[in-house]
Amino acid sequence: MSLLIRGGTVVNADRSVRADVYVEDGTIKAVGENLEAPSGAEVIDAGGQYVMPGGIDPHTHMQLPFMGTVASEDFFTGTAAAMAGGTTMIIDFVIPGHGESLMDNYRTWRGWAEKACADYSFHVAVTWWDETVHKDMGTLVREEGVNSFKHFMAYKNAIMAEDEVLYNSFCRALELGAMVTAHAENGELVFQLQKKLMEMGITGPEAHPLSRPPAAEGEAANRAIRLAEVIGVPLYLVHVSTEDALNEIIRARNAGQRVYGEVLAGHLLVDESVYRHPDFDVAAAHVMSPPFREKHHQKALWKGLQSGNLQTTATDHCCFCADQKAMGKGDFTKIPNGTGGVEDRMAVLWTHGVNSGKLTMEEFVATTSTNAAKLFNIFPRKGAVAVGADADIVVWDPAATKTISAKTHHQKVDYNIFEGMEVTGLPSHTVAGGIVTWRMGDLRPTMGAGRYVKRPAFAPVFGALEKAAALLRPEAVKR
Ligand code: URP
Ligand code: ZN
Ligand code: ZN
Repeated sequence: MSLLIRGGTVVNADRSVRADVYVEDGTIKAVGENLEAPSGAEVIDAGGQYVMPGGIDPHTHMQLPFMGTVASEDFFTGTAAAMAGGTTMIIDFVIPGHGESLMDNYRTWRGWAEKACADYSFHVAVTWWDETVHKDMGTLVREEGVNSFKHFMAYKNAIMAEDEVLYNSFCRALELGAMVTAHAENGELVFQLQKKLMEMGITGPEAHPLSRPPAAEGEAANRAIRLAEVIGVPLYLVHVSTEDALNEIIRARNAGQRVYGEVLAGHLLVDESVYRHPDFDVAAAHVMSPPFREKHHQKALWKGLQSGNLQTTATDHCCFCADQKAMGKGDFTKIPNGTGGVEDRMAVLWTHGVNSGKLTMEEFVATTSTNAAKLFNIFPRKGAVAVGADADIVVWDPAATKTISAKTHHQKVDYNIFEGMEVTGLPSHTVAGGIVTWRMGDLRPTMGAGRYVKRPAFAPVFGALEKAAALLRPEAVKR
């Protein structure tokens, strides 16, 4: 299979240049002027368009069993919807429950993901601790290409990781050369506030943001950052939704700590008034954690993205339909947490980021693709339009427009948090592994065409304690 993308402007995170792109057997073979297509090659005319690395969404939950139900979008439908929006790779999560084997769960998720039509990888959650978890983390890093472990600091009595678990897992990740990631909300505080709100008779979705105040996120962000600082492990905070958490990241980064932050397209554009919508279905459709916030947080998050203190954009795509959300009628704590967006992230970011002048095109590429590839160690195989890279490419028409709606989206969910938003800038073509899967509105996903992407470990570094101990007693510090 060969493909020539002719006449466009190639936009990478570091520069933009007029060039053709030639693809063969799933790999980019040439980037340059006036490339010739061999006979039989498919040709895309990219005149007036941008040729960019396909989006990488580093935070999705396809088919997640969660809060008594299962997310409606599976790995096939979810990756297909992603490609309709220009995203060609997702990093999803294996989430073992307390006491469950990491390896068994990893194999289960790998099985579910076999039907994906775009490439995928997995972060693995550490929710509890014993020797088998220690061992499995080693196996996952050394044999399975997992270089990031997730920690939920919320969801008490379910998947919440206590501080002891965070400590043990962070230490183990450090010695393995893996990144630790965290959902930062103080789960105990959320649990107590949920109880209190229910006792007060505030039982609808309007209680959701009250039970998860910005301070609960700020506290947990600071706790994770401080633990990571003492242990010396790099930390990536998922779905940063508040100025409070962002300020903790900025403080730590200014102090030289390796701390990174992800922001969701939803948190940049949707505010907490949605929870006061009189229609339960609409309000509940927006229930996710952390919740959508007051508008001043959105301003701060945009600045975080512009300044480089937040490096990636994601969606936390985790869809539940109205009948599932209805499980929480009369008790907001039982509304399955999660919203969609994997199809819309790129267009929303382009419209509100690039078209508004907040982001350059190159920054758009960095924050939708390249930075995730670098942070999770798959660059330049992913995240670049360059010779030798996987041919995961989006041809972007900056003049194309549409109005986002659940009636027309490809996501397998009956609501869209961006409903009614007009976007300008859309993919005309999406190329995944060298195959054109989205062509001018025609989606052609192939079940099972997506590949599992192994992510190698980083070179292990010594933590602060080990460095100090090595000075006192070198024989005590071995790797
Ligand atoms: O509400 C959310 N975000 N659901 C998915 C699980 C998580 O916290 O990321
Ligand atoms: Zn989360
Ligand atoms: Zn999530």
